[in-house]
Amino acid sequence: MMRTVYLNGEYLPENEAKVSIFDRGFLMADGVYEVTSVLDGKLLEFDGHLKRLERSLGELDMDKPEGFDDLLEIHRELVRLNDVDQGGVYLQITRGAADRDFVYPKDATPTLCLFTQSKPLLDTDASKNGMSVIFADDIRWGRRDIKTVQLLYPSMCKMMAKAAGADDAWLVEDGFVTEGSSNNAYIVKGNKIITRGLSNDILHGITRASLLKYAKESQMEIEERNFTPDEAKTADEAFISSASTFVMPVVKIEGETIGEGTPGKVSQRLREIYIDESRKRAI
Ligand code: PDD
Repeated sequence: MMRTVYLNGEYLPENEAKVSIFDRGFLMADGVYEVTSVLDGKLLEFDGHLKRLERSLGELDMDKPEGFDDLLEIHRELVRLNDVDQGGVYLQITRGAADRDFVYPKDATPTLCLFTQSKPLLDTDASKNGMSVIFADDIRWGRRDIKTVQLLYPSMCKMMAKAAGADDAWLVEDGFVTEGSSNNAYIVKGNKIITRGLSNDILHGITRASLLKYAKESQMEIEERNFTPDEAKTADEAFISSASTFVMPVVKIEGETIGEGTPGKVSQRLREIYIDESRKRAI
């Protein structure tokens, strides 16, 4: 089915939306993005994604594109036009088109594009049975707090995981897990939820922030600290969080079974809480 997408002020059939070969997103990965989930045709965590987008632009001295103030309306219109019930809206802003040069161009017009993806988010195989991860060296750049479109290494990690018969990779740097290739990583010991603290080493997940808030409100114990791959392999439970997975239980790490090899109690409870609370706040 032909989607309607948004490009620089226009709603267009997907095969008519065209971007210049000189666009710096294309030539230099000079762009930032956000993925906002859609549940029951409504947007989850829109304000959080918008704030992080503004921060990413600021960190890269990138101008806001025209239409920035209408982003909520554009998201909603795309969801409506494409009749999305479950899935997400992908948004990308690049510095725009300019002759190839490492120096930022002075007068390029930023490119803004958005499109929707419909897919089941709730009752998936992974949410029922859990997923498996391997470890991979975290060789990404040092500003993982900025959500840039430099996604080749995460893509390679997913391929490494696939080749090893697993679903994803958790990245390891200086002996500690940083995060998943496209999600934040957590382990559970006893009833304590352990996840790495915020820094430039990881993306500050919007799902992570809300999840930790809801967990605290539910009197669950949280420890924000580094954890090692060995600690992860011997944890009682493990899970990931992201806009597209919410909370997803991890039941195997580098071939080692976690807990009973089925989604753990804490992970399942957190998934329920997260989905309930986000649904209530969806717009
Ligand atoms: N990925 N860490 C990384 C490296 C990510 O790429 C993501 C999100 C997250 C979780 O962030 P949030 O909870 O705000 O989605 C953590 C998105 C979903 C993606 O690239 O498709």
